[in-house]
Amino acid sequence: MIDARGCGNRLTMLIPRTVIDQTVARMAEEITADYRGKQLVAVGILKGAFIFMADLVRRLDIPMEVDFITVSSYGSGTESSRIINVRQDLTTDIRGKDILVIEDIVDSGRTVCYVLQHLASRGAASVRLCALADKPSRREVSIKLNYLGFTVPDRFVVGYGLDFDNKFRYLPDIYALENDGSKS
Ligand code: IMP
Ligand code: MG
Repeated sequence: MIDARGCGNRLTMLIPRTVIDQTVARMAEEITADYRGKQLVAVGILKGAFIFMADLVRRLDIPMEVDFITVSSYGSGTESSRIINVRQDLTTDIRGKDILVIEDIVDSGRTVCYVLQHLASRGAASVRLCALADKPSRREVSIKLNYLGFTVPDRFVVGYGLDFDNKFRYLPDIYALENDGSKS
């Protein structure tokens, strides 16, 4: 367990960077095979997906466009809020293109459900979902995950882009936050 660089929260290592690296490479191989010859647009959900997406797209051996969407769920801490809004939309015309939504973690499923519906209404040829991590024990809406890195237990996880109150995104490994007040 570490006291993360003076932030005062105790973190337990869950997934080391070497394992993350191997997993991202495995996902990139699958996506490369599936999207060869298609008009891929990789759409990252900010902010949490930024590190995962940067590593993933550099391993894809196919041409693509890259765009981002920022959604907000009001509130902070370890419980995500139920009200979701688009704060910054895509700037790409996605009509007829093959969209791969890239998310850090799927919890209740409400964020990705909202984003998938939002993009599907724009005339894309296809919309699929790629997530670094999944917490299936907390699912509230049914979601099909086309590409998944890790299934994680019902713990609040940080690092590799994932935050707690905007902290810890920069950590290269994935940690569980101790005493976070979330349900277990
Ligand atoms: P959902 O809408 O309940 O699926 O929540 C998904 C969003 O909540 C993600 O985009 C994350 O930003 C955040 N989130 C959920 N669980 C965690 C976690 O364990 N660590 C960091 N962020 C999380
Ligand atoms: Mg977040």
